[in-house]
Amino acid sequence: MKETMNWQFRDARAVWHPYTRQQDWLSDDPLVIERAEGVWLTDVSGRRFLDACGSLWVTTYRHGEPRLKAAVSRQLEELDHSTFFGATHTPGIRLAERLVELAPASESDPRGLTRVFFGSDGASMVDAALKLAYQFSVRSGRPRDLILHLENSFHGDSIAASSIMGGEQSQSAYGPLLMSTRRTTSPAPADGLDPARAAARALDDLEKVLAGCHERCCALIVEAMVQAAGGMLPYHPAFLQGCRELADRYGFLLICDEIAAGVARTGQMWATQHAGIVPDVMLCGKGLTGGVLPMSALLTGDHVADAFTGPGATAMFFHGHTYAANPLACAAALENLAMAQELDLPAVARDKGAVLGALLEPVAKHHAVREVRRLGVMTGIELAASLPRAGFRVCAAAQERGVWMRALGDVLVVMPPLAITDDELAQLTAVIEASLEDVFGR
Ligand SMILES: Cc1ncc(COP(=O)(O)O)c(C=O)c1O
Repeated sequence: MKETMNWQFRDARAVWHPYTRQQDWLSDDPLVIERAEGVWLTDVSGRRFLDACGSLWVTTYRHGEPRLKAAVSRQLEELDHSTFFGATHTPGIRLAERLVELAPASESDPRGLTRVFFGSDGASMVDAALKLAYQFSVRSGRPRDLILHLENSFHGDSIAASSIMGGEQSQSAYGPLLMSTRRTTSPAPADGLDPARAAARALDDLEKVLAGCHERCCALIVEAMVQAAGGMLPYHPAFLQGCRELADRYGFLLICDEIAAGVARTGQMWATQHAGIVPDVMLCGKGLTGGVLPMSALLTGDHVADAFTGPGATAMFFHGHTYAANPLACAAALENLAMAQELDLPAVARDKGAVLGALLEPVAKHHAVREVRRLGVMTGIELAASLPRAGFRVCAAAQERGVWMRALGDVLVVMPPLAITDDELAQLTAVIEASLEDVFGR
């Protein structure tokens, strides 16, 4: 413990953490992690913690996966980095081809996702998608400047991504800096509403909004199937199907953000596949490299990309990131996608999710729990919070018992790496139950 406190003090002097109350930092006893293997994190004092949220939803299969380590090492011997601006490289081409092969497709919709644009993190891809939608409308000869998004949505923290945040936090902190966008009803069922009815109601509301602004609307951006940071809110696939119809009817782009839900976690390779639709733009990140290196990607179709070709100096997409398509990240992503196929990770997510769901039944009955929500392994446990910082307190109790979780307000988030065993899942849910009792009593 002395070792941990020493690092915590050094950290407190030199580091500033994202979404973290610096004032409470030392009293909150932050983890100081040194190693990770499988689903376990080990801190500087040698204490082990089960990584219940896959290190913020990035560790797809497990920490220290030998195949990913070997792929990155091999790549490092060949090419560390070279730019994608006006040049290319083999790992980037291979990864783009692989993503196109694996992308959602539909027999009834000839538009596919055939072009890949790379970035480094999620928010930068969201910015790229919004700029692309606007520039696409301009280049198509009908300029439109309005972006629609959903209540409860979260797409990252750049100024543009903050402008389409579904809660009030960004508005109150940064209001004057944000873009003007239009927010519409979330399809996630609230107050016990049936999921299909919640989806239908959200579609009705979306149509009403569009009635007043469709001529200005260049894109609707939605998190595919689960509004993740908004509180792990799964919704009915009919909503995505309805969005596809409305996008076609009114001629705006449908952007599906798969940054949290993509790469197997919901029980499909891409969450959009639950609805059987193909968006105009699909975004992925987080788990794309299996959690070893930052990388994000935007996939779109020729029907969009072709608008950016033609004569003239402005016939290009004005966007790019220095580390876009970093070869090491490409190698990790290629190996991770190969593993996802060989191990059938979507099926693993379905199976592990079912085990997790059954194990959480006693948790769902606890008097302090309002609702347990889940799609695949993406799980939210909403507390009927009667205490300040209730989610944080339960996570702190879990940390004492050897489980690392992070709450979204009053929602405990569970999204473990897919290599978790059934025994480890049982350990995890037993700790959640005990931690609820520590904080709220039996
Ligand atoms: C759905 C979604 N989109 C975008 C982002 C932003 O990703 P990043 O933190 O890599 O910028 C997140 C992050 O949680 C997310 O959940």
